[in-house]
Amino acid sequence: MKQIKKNENCKKKMEIKLDFKNVMEDSIGSEHGVSNSDIDNIREKIANAHKRVLDGRKSGELGFYQLPYQDKEVSEILDISEDIKNKFDNFVVLGIGGSALGNIALHNALNHKFYNLLPKKDRNDCPRIFFLDNIDPKLIKELIDIIDLKKTVFNVITKSGSTSETIVNFLVFLDLLKSAVGDDWKKHIIITTDPERGDLRKLAEEESIISLSVPLNVGGRYSVLSPVGLLSAAVSGIDINQLLSGAAYMDKLCSSSEFDKNPSFELDKNPAYKSAALLYLEYVKNKKNITVFMPYSNSLIGIADWFSQIWAESLGKKYSLENEVVNTGFTPVSALGTTDQHSQLQLYVQGQYDKVIVFVEVENYNSQIDIPKLYPEFNSFEYLGGKSINQLINLEKQGTEHALVKNNRPNYTIKLPEINAFTIGQLLFIIEVQTVFMGALLNINPLDQPGVEEGKIYVCKKLGRKGY
Ligand code: PA5
Repeated sequence: MKQIKKNENCKKKMEIKLDFKNVMEDSIGSEHGVSNSDIDNIREKIANAHKRVLDGRKSGELGFYQLPYQDKEVSEILDISEDIKNKFDNFVVLGIGGSALGNIALHNALNHKFYNLLPKKDRNDCPRIFFLDNIDPKLIKELIDIIDLKKTVFNVITKSGSTSETIVNFLVFLDLLKSAVGDDWKKHIIITTDPERGDLRKLAEEESIISLSVPLNVGGRYSVLSPVGLLSAAVSGIDINQLLSGAAYMDKLCSSSEFDKNPSFELDKNPAYKSAALLYLEYVKNKKNITVFMPYSNSLIGIADWFSQIWAESLGKKYSLENEVVNTGFTPVSALGTTDQHSQLQLYVQGQYDKVIVFVEVENYNSQIDIPKLYPEFNSFEYLGGKSINQLINLEKQGTEHALVKNNRPNYTIKLPEINAFTIGQLLFIIEVQTVFMGALLNINPLDQPGVEEGKIYVCKKLGRKGY
């Protein structure tokens, strides 16, 4: 009993918090801010959107909701990753879009910035990790230059089993592997794909290649917490149980059972719904259709890129659910604090009134760096000496926030107590819920991507793919 309570207290301490005050009209005025009565005016919409999300969860259409609770898959992934650690020096992910961005985000957030450069023992004997998520010939050549194929395993990730970029990268490395290791090539490949369909599933079965399944009801950009994202994370030593536990914790925070009775009130208890509702109001009422995602941490820039995909590809839609032309969605922008204060910030403070800035603040960076007191005779050195860099980065974020508020620019802050698997699990999950809830508010399908298909079909036709 005591232990359970202690665990719950630890989790509570690591809960991520959202501070929405700078979206509200009390902070930034009525022209650009949102009022409580604005929220009240869309009560019914919020209640309907909640019902749609709940139905989607119950019917299984929103499969990502089940991912925090997959025990069988986790133990299979951990077994495979142990085996990989014992046998290989390099782990290469071949995938694109939702089959790579989550992997990259997790790696950037939770592993050492210079992970591949660390001596093996400082990587806990885990292999080096590479992500090939493009078909830039130079990039492919340069990866070939530096990996020893005999010590490399490739995780080919494609839900459809047919994305041309992933398939061509696979073919290139398959050919090289066959020359380098002969019949052993099968031991150097792990396929992550649809459980039943597609050519890669067929290949895995015919050649008895180790494979993992992407659940049928989980689409690419919602798959980071499925075997898609979990294997590369586990292979590099990330605690995937903690990651899923963080997602489950956020699921609980975003699942208030009282919601149906009083949506406006309960909105405060559901951070994912609240951020979606405020961004929705900023869009329809105040014409702000650009969402800038700006973490104050280099570790989180991969999450900003992952956010950009889920936000853009899920919500940028031509048709409503009733097939009316709506041409809706948000333009995501990824920015990095403090770096982009010296690049993009001028536009955010004084440019068009078309953006909401979403800050991600980190309370404890787990490394403290004090600023040495040197050359105090120089004014531009003296006032910094003796402070800490940790103090400075948070103060700079406050300064940016202050400038935005002064200029009536809506912004809000997601606060992470620290960056760890538990908090990152929460962050990914809240963004997934926020996205499907926004889809429901906008009355569009956040799970498809028909606009992307047109380009794919063009390429297949030009290359003479059968059936096109
Ligand atoms: O979110 C999506 O559905 C897309 O971004 C896909 O992940 C991307 O196109 C890759 O698809 P696949 O996993 O089928 O190779």
